[in-house]
Amino acid sequence: MERLETTDLVIRPPAVEDAPAAFELLNDPDVMRWNPGRDCPDLLTAEAFCRESADWSDGTHATWHAVDRETSLMVGNVSLFAIDLDDAVAKIGYRTMPAARGRGVARQMVDAVTGWAFERRGLMRVQLEHSVRNLASCRVAEAAGFGYEGTARSAYAVPGGTGRDDCHIHGRLPGDPGL
Ligand SMILES: CC(C)(COP(=O)(O)OP(=O)(O)OC[C@H]1O[C@@H](n2cnc3c(N)ncnc32)[C@H](O)[C@@H]1OP(=O)(O)O)[C@@H](O)C(=O)NCCC(=O)NCCS
Repeated sequence: MERLETTDLVIRPPAVEDAPAAFELLNDPDVMRWNPGRDCPDLLTAEAFCRESADWSDGTHATWHAVDRETSLMVGNVSLFAIDLDDAVAKIGYRTMPAARGRGVARQMVDAVTGWAFERRGLMRVQLEHSVRNLASCRVAEAAGFGYEGTARSAYAVPGGTGRDDCHIHGRLPGDPGL
């Protein structure tokens, strides 16, 4: 089952029709600062991003787009990546459309996809990392059941070559409470 539902969202694999929203998301300054994807200069690149994000066949990632249940507008992107089935671990990353921030989209995406990882893929740990300066992401992590585990020094290369940030490491295991 690759369609998840939360209180406010339907979370499903990316579709080419999401390209205009994906274009906006990938070019948002906060996304480019904290969680850059590929360079996205035009809609064709955004379409390719959506198409490739929907192809999970190499087994290393599972990427979804979240849409608002009522409006069907795309509100976010969430991805399990670095999936390692031998160790039963993965990492999680996320981005919320600028207009949809501050109303729980990220925490719902992270909680739902992490539950899917445990229940449907048998993973035993999902790890979440963010720059120590990304305070909103830290709030999302704690709210979605990812306890703080430590700080990795100089783990994040700030886009544009303007320095390096330390990163918080958060983790959630199957028995940990989520939202
Ligand atoms: C981080 C991000 C995903 C949060 O998305 P969101 O849907 O707004 O998240 P939620 O609404 O679930 O929660 C946001 C939390 O951050 C808090 N927050 C927002 N801006 C903040 C800031 N500047 N300082 C501190 N907390 C902040 C909100 O108050 C809320 O916490 P609370 O409900 O406990 O008060 C979104 O801002 C984003 O896409 N940023 C750019 C990409 C990014 O940083 N991705 C994560 C990389 S690790």
